[in-house]
Amino acid sequence: MVTQRTQVAIIGAGPSGLLLGQLLHRAGIANIVVERQDGDYVLGRIRAGVLEQTTCDLLIEAGVGTRMHADGMVHEGFELCFGGARHRIDMAGLTGGKRVTVYGQTEVTRDLMDARAAAGLTTVYHAVEVALHGFDTKTPSVTYLKDGEPQEIRCDFIAGCDGYHGVSRASVPPESLSIYEKAYPFGWLGVLADTKPVSHELIYSNHERGFALCSMRSPTRTRYYVQCSLHDKVEQWSDAAFWDELRLRLDPQAAESLITGPSIEKSIAPLRSFVAEPMRFGTLFLAGDAAHVVPPTGAKGLNLAASDIRYLSRAFIEHYAERSEAGITHYSDVCLRRIWKAERFSWWFTGLMHRFPETGAIGQKLQRAELDYLVSSRAASTAMAENYVGLPFEA
Ligand code: APR
Ligand code: PHB
Repeated sequence: MVTQRTQVAIIGAGPSGLLLGQLLHRAGIANIVVERQDGDYVLGRIRAGVLEQTTCDLLIEAGVGTRMHADGMVHEGFELCFGGARHRIDMAGLTGGKRVTVYGQTEVTRDLMDARAAAGLTTVYHAVEVALHGFDTKTPSVTYLKDGEPQEIRCDFIAGCDGYHGVSRASVPPESLSIYEKAYPFGWLGVLADTKPVSHELIYSNHERGFALCSMRSPTRTRYYVQCSLHDKVEQWSDAAFWDELRLRLDPQAAESLITGPSIEKSIAPLRSFVAEPMRFGTLFLAGDAAHVVPPTGAKGLNLAASDIRYLSRAFIEHYAERSEAGITHYSDVCLRRIWKAERFSWWFTGLMHRFPETGAIGQKLQRAELDYLVSSRAASTAMAENYVGLPFEA
């Protein structure tokens, strides 16, 4: 057994784990990241790409803001499409100037990986049989196999940043966890293509054939989605079928100007709301998708992961620099208050925009009434905009 010692062992090299590692490193706190897959696998997963200002601020604080500044697209509004017309939500105008940055999670992850490599920090890829030990004590450890050899990391804290399917949450005795979960009766079929975006802002469409979203990664790369059946297989969806379906779900002007092209990636994702409480167990802290999942409507997943990491990095920095346990003690409660608000918003936005097989004609009428209200009431538009740009942090 090869044994190493560090201050914080981080499980998972997704955006949560890498961002935590970078913020801790900059504060002089030693950390090792242990990841089950390889770097290319992590970069291969296409996720959302809308960053709240506080997420951008944190990436800058972590020293990875340069490319985001150069290539990220600042958006001041988005559009809701229903009844054959589009209605703009003026985010900036309604929230006193707040904006979001459109910059893909893949790029955020790449910037964090590059920064970690440049700083010479250890990331163990292809770690097998990762296991957590003694997190009810002050001397926890992580074990794994690397190239068949048993390895051990002794540490002060473990950060479980290993996503929804990770080992960290699964290591907690089930009786210590409260799980809140909802699966939605449809999926999102997403296509990435090198085509010019149909509009300079995002379009969220509620159509009787189902939801559609026109998003983008750059002025020449689009990310579009249509609501699909959970029984659909990606192979059943040709590029042409996807473009036809998307066109049908847009207003006539957008449908007319939609530019199509070959897909570079095509995948189907289920939609889920999920929260595990609490997020701290002795010296183990859960963060990001390991603790909570939102449906993608509103793009809160990465922003919530960043907000957990903001609180967690500050808690560890307080512990080491000021010998204060306040951040550690309050970590779970403070995170969960923000998480539940984003869970509520994502659930609400999902309910407003999708076709639900079980709610029938009355469900559609009620959605339409709410959409009409939303775009005609400044109060309702403001409530939506302030959630979309991101709710404030507690001090
Ligand atoms: N051991 C080590 N690593 C693991 C293990 C394990 N047993 N299980 C999973 N992992 C790794 C995964 O391979 C993945 O690279 O943990 C990482 C978790 O990354 P994400 O799933 O991206 O989760 P997170 O970093 O919290 O990012 C949250 O991703 O799903 C989106 O909407 C979400 O944008 C948000 C972001
Ligand atoms: C995306 O660009 O992938 C995206 C954007 C906004 C969302 C969800 C996904 O609400």
